[in-house]
Amino acid sequence: MSIWLNNKHAHTFCCACATALLTLLLLIDGAESYGFGRCPKYPSMPKFNMSRVLGQWYEVERSFYLPEIASGCTILEFQPLHKEKLSKFNNFELEVAIKTINRLTGNPSVNLGYATPENRKSSIMDFKFNTRFPDVIARLLPGSGKYQVLYTDYENFAILWSCGSLGSIGYSDQIWVFGRDRDFPVEVRTKIYDALKKLGLDPERLVLSKNKNCPQTL
Ligand SMILES: *[C@@H]1O[C@H](CO)[C@@H](O)[C@H](O)[C@H]1NC(C)=O
Repeated sequence: MSIWLNNKHAHTFCCACATALLTLLLLIDGAESYGFGRCPKYPSMPKFNMSRVLGQWYEVERSFYLPEIASGCTILEFQPLHKEKLSKFNNFELEVAIKTINRLTGNPSVNLGYATPENRKSSIMDFKFNTRFPDVIARLLPGSGKYQVLYTDYENFAILWSCGSLGSIGYSDQIWVFGRDRDFPVEVRTKIYDALKKLGLDPERLVLSKNKNCPQTL
């Protein structure tokens, strides 16, 4: 009798275990997008005006990304490069500051980088970060590379997207939705989700960024 009970318990426990593991895998798998073949190509946003994205943006939603799970209160700042640093070939280079707070330690961190658009009117840019991450972390963080503003109304929201090739395995992409405030009114969120669906990107992949109890300034 007791053996039967033990077996039954063991069996129940294993089932719960397997279910939890499966749920976790599905959660990670469903939220992070992997695809076969090459990264999808999106055209630059028509009539994109880089000077109108300058200033401060808050990360409101983003696709699930395990290494970023502890960060919150993320702010993105775009500024034109100082005149003396302006390159002869590209006078639209921007300085980018990414400010976050580690929710576990409470420590703020700032990553500085540069964004160079493909050309004057392109919303596709090359990001280069000054911060040199240790190799192991660099592989996990979406660092330097091609980033693209898929769509923005400049005044309320901006959808940023990046995609990396996983070699012969396929690709993995990330979506960030930035706002001029820490949250969106319903009609703005609807507009964003509609835009994503039109681009074949599932809004279900987005999770709310951690923006509770953020300090006024970082
Ligand atoms: C881009 O935006 C700036 C600031 O709003 C404006 O002064 C400029 O005329 C715009 N450029 C184009 C090409 O529309």
